[in-house]
Amino acid sequence: MCGIVGYVGDKNAYPILIKGLHRLEYRGYDSAGVAMISDEGRLNVYKTKGKVSALEHYAENKDISGTIGIAHTRWATHGEPNDLNAHPHYSENGSIALIHNGIIENYGVIKTMLSEKGYTFRSDTDTEVLVQFIAYLRAENHCTLFEAVQAALNQVIGAYAIAVLDKDNRDEIIAARKSSPLVVGIGEGEYFLASDATPICEYVKDVVYLNDGEIAIINRHKPLKVYNLNNIESKIDIRKIEMNISELEKGGYPHFMLKEIFEQPRTITDCIRGRINLEGTNVILSGILDNKDKFLNARRIIFVACGTSWHAGLIGEYLFEDLCGIEVKVEYASEFRYRNPVIQPGDVVIAISQSGETADTLAAIELAKSKGAFVYGICNVVGSSIARATHSGTYIHVGPEIGVASTKAFTGQVTVLVMMAMVIAEMKGRISKDKYEAVLRELLAMPESIKHILAQHEHIKDIAAIFTYARNFLYLGRGYNYPTAMEGALKLKEISYIHAEGCPAAEMKHGTIALIDNEMPTIVIATNGSVYEKTISNIQEIKARGGKVIAVVNEGDEIVSKMADYCICVPSVEECLTPLLSSIPLQLFAYYIAVNKGRNVDQPRNLAKSVTVE
Ligand code: M6R
Repeated sequence: MCGIVGYVGDKNAYPILIKGLHRLEYRGYDSAGVAMISDEGRLNVYKTKGKVSALEHYAENKDISGTIGIAHTRWATHGEPNDLNAHPHYSENGSIALIHNGIIENYGVIKTMLSEKGYTFRSDTDTEVLVQFIAYLRAENHCTLFEAVQAALNQVIGAYAIAVLDKDNRDEIIAARKSSPLVVGIGEGEYFLASDATPICEYVKDVVYLNDGEIAIINRHKPLKVYNLNNIESKIDIRKIEMNISELEKGGYPHFMLKEIFEQPRTITDCIRGRINLEGTNVILSGILDNKDKFLNARRIIFVACGTSWHAGLIGEYLFEDLCGIEVKVEYASEFRYRNPVIQPGDVVIAISQSGETADTLAAIELAKSKGAFVYGICNVVGSSIARATHSGTYIHVGPEIGVASTKAFTGQVTVLVMMAMVIAEMKGRISKDKYEAVLRELLAMPESIKHILAQHEHIKDIAAIFTYARNFLYLGRGYNYPTAMEGALKLKEISYIHAEGCPAAEMKHGTIALIDNEMPTIVIATNGSVYEKTISNIQEIKARGGKVIAVVNEGDEIVSKMADYCICVPSVEECLTPLLSSIPLQLFAYYIAVNKGRNVDQPRNLAKSVTVE
């Protein structure tokens, strides 16, 4: 939810920290701050409300010297976003600074204890309590910073990724994690630290992902040391990052979101690459083949996910029931984790997450595992917490998604779900050769089909211009297109702040139709397929009530195109593949409306890219 960066080495820390914060700004952008030990040995803390650019402005003409520092970009949990609540927080005596991503749940008890001992607090945050607690334990026990951090973390309840700096030790950063991600980059005489690999990949390729309950001693003169909370030393598992800097830049587009929408022909290609044999006749997914029995004997599949990933799970429900004949449940991870869900032998849980760090999804996985389920992950971020917490899985391989609104990750998730369903359906003998070949052929042609839709961006932009006035939108779809309608509505809401509702088209007449008038436009996905005629009736119901209709139809459509006010055409494909195409114009539509309204498309208000707190 917040972004953490750290550096210790022989270079000037400030530019590295600021650049890193910019890369992590998608994680939170309420306030930002930096703490560095200057060349003169002072602990300088600069922090301010607003974005990283506001911090840069604030730090102008200040002492930004020093080769060790930590920095933070915040998405507020405790305390409103203001200068005081911004991180880093520091101890009363000004010697220890700390940044934190997560929530300390028992901070109230600790704060009361410290207050009784005379400690005072400047902010409303749980994080300031943690740094004061560490300072207190250090003074009480006459111990090292590492020992004080370890002692403190043994007493706190909650989620954290932290980095701690001590004014009197210019060589060392102490970092720790529990339920929030942290990765250490290893260079020659220098170390980098970050919430994910994006701020690190341009400097080093060797990284260590800290595990839950681990504390790292990052000393510029020494090899990296990692211990758990019981002081047992962990084995260092060095991984290589394969991230390309150009993937982290806008590449000439005005926004990451637009770049990511236009990247989809390539990201779908990357997602299927190596998973279809050279002859183009078979899908091969090692995660499924390695666990063949689990999927062949699956009594039920339960998807757990949040937001857009949950919508992908809904599409998974249609796919797995339709192609594989397996019963499916789709659960909001946040609800699943607090119920007492019935998990029976033979249940397979599939967790879907772009970031691989969503706290609710992670908790749902742990619950499912504790009840004996086999848990499979569909993630984008390699080495993420969910990728590591699941028994097996498939990466979507769409590259870093920076725009807060998920686009290419969604189509990557759906592509993986299609491939999984095909493999399982074939293993179960549930799919005919003809159907299998048709789906595969169209999957391979998907990048071209998407290019075809993207080429209509000016047309979609024009329609968006006509409807930018609207205060409410309805999105309708049936069958495979119902989850796509939900996803289209979410895209519009999150980046334009226009209220939008996604609804199964036929369900509209049970209530939602009351909202229809000439000021509430409806987007209807009416592509060919088993429910095409039914959807036509729904369009008639809207038109009869004076509603405006923008329809997503197949090329050559002659019926809906005469009824709808505006049409956007997508190529005709097998029904199970329609979400991959219908979602593209909805992404563009939301994007152009948001731009017309002057919204911050990549960093919409109140949101953050990955939700690592409850
Ligand atoms: O990283 P995850 O896929 O687990 O994230 C889940 C949701 O937070 C995410 O999809 C969110 O809904 C996006 N902002 C949607 O565009």
